[in-house]
Amino acid sequence: MNAPEPLPKTEQTAAPVPRLEIRDLSRHFAGRTVVDHVSLRVMPGQVTCLLGPSGCGKSTTLRCIAGVDMQDSGEIHLDGKLVCDTVFRVPPERRSIGLMFQDFALFPHMSVADNVAFGLTGGKAERRARVEALLDRVDLMRHIDAFPHELSGGEQQRVALARALAPGPSVMLMDEPFSGLDNRLRDGIRDETLEILKEAGAAVLLVTHEPEEAMRMADEIALMRDGRIVQQGAPYNVYNAPADKAAAAFFSDINVIRGVVRGALTDTPFGQFLAPGVPDGTEVDIVFRPQHVKIDFDRNGTGPLPTSRDGVPARGVVQRARFMGSESLVEFRMDHDLSILKATVPNVFLPKPGRPLWLTVRRDRCFVFPVTS
Ligand SMILES: Nc1ncnc2c1ncn2[C@@H]1O[C@H](COP(=O)(O)OP(=O)(O)O)[C@@H](O)[C@H]1O
Ligand SMILES: [Mg+2]
Repeated sequence: MNAPEPLPKTEQTAAPVPRLEIRDLSRHFAGRTVVDHVSLRVMPGQVTCLLGPSGCGKSTTLRCIAGVDMQDSGEIHLDGKLVCDTVFRVPPERRSIGLMFQDFALFPHMSVADNVAFGLTGGKAERRARVEALLDRVDLMRHIDAFPHELSGGEQQRVALARALAPGPSVMLMDEPFSGLDNRLRDGIRDETLEILKEAGAAVLLVTHEPEEAMRMADEIALMRDGRIVQQGAPYNVYNAPADKAAAAFFSDINVIRGVVRGALTDTPFGQFLAPGVPDGTEVDIVFRPQHVKIDFDRNGTGPLPTSRDGVPARGVVQRARFMGSESLVEFRMDHDLSILKATVPNVFLPKPGRPLWLTVRRDRCFVFPVTS
């Protein structure tokens, strides 16, 4: 039997080329660094969310990639080709980039069809066919001759999406594109948009300050703070293995217990926590989310039986309890140091203020960070 022919060397070893890659991008305004050595890669068909608080430099990064602003240092590559460094620059309109920004203003004096056709080249019949195909895809064919003001916010957003996708861009840059829509519309439009983007196969870089939006849309999240990417990875990993306390706190409420390390362990009222590799005497923050606090419902104040995973129970007194829809948020004042601890419980659990309850913490879901500064 003949062995299969080996693949030519290039096919064996060629790493996939990112559709969009930025390397060491920096931008300063009036001596202040707003984007600080940002590097990112987005593969075709992938959605990367640039997530971070307002003012951290997300839009500036996107504007440099789009070519409407220019970085002070660093490079931008599309499909492995340099489009912009500090000397060479491909103009924005030749970058094959689709843009959808917060105020996705449609041209008010143009029909829906003309809005979508705006960036298209080619013959009239060809352009018309493309417009119809896109409007059909976003389910707006019946409004093809309407003007923007005759459409709802959600419909306008879909026209803007069709317009951005019409020329078949290889990269889509989206800056908080859903923030103008009301909450009830938003989830449906996000899901629909995601499906259309995936079909189109573009590499998508989506800017948002909302963790829920990033978790819902992203294949990969790049968490940005003060101009830097502090962590990058699949939503599951960024949520469950945050790089630091602030990264944990960006996604949900957190509880923090301060402790000191002795022999790679920290003693707390909830038992001992592992702090591998942390030198003796180091102060650490033990960080955990409210959903990883467990309440003993069954033993009526006698305290739960600890399992090794759950550590030692500590007692707290209910301060207040609120129903949040799919869960209840209960705040306790802890007996041992009078600190406030937050716990979420699925469904409805609204104990009266003043009621003492025993709590444990899922030690396998805690993060231990040395205290900085
Ligand atoms: N053209 C500009 N001139 C001066 N400062 C700017 C300019 N554009 C943005 N900034 C500043 O840079 C910082 C980051 O802005 P931006 O990128 O818009 O943040 P984000 O989109 O994350 O909210 C802000 O402090 C903003 O005021
Ligand atoms: Mg912005």
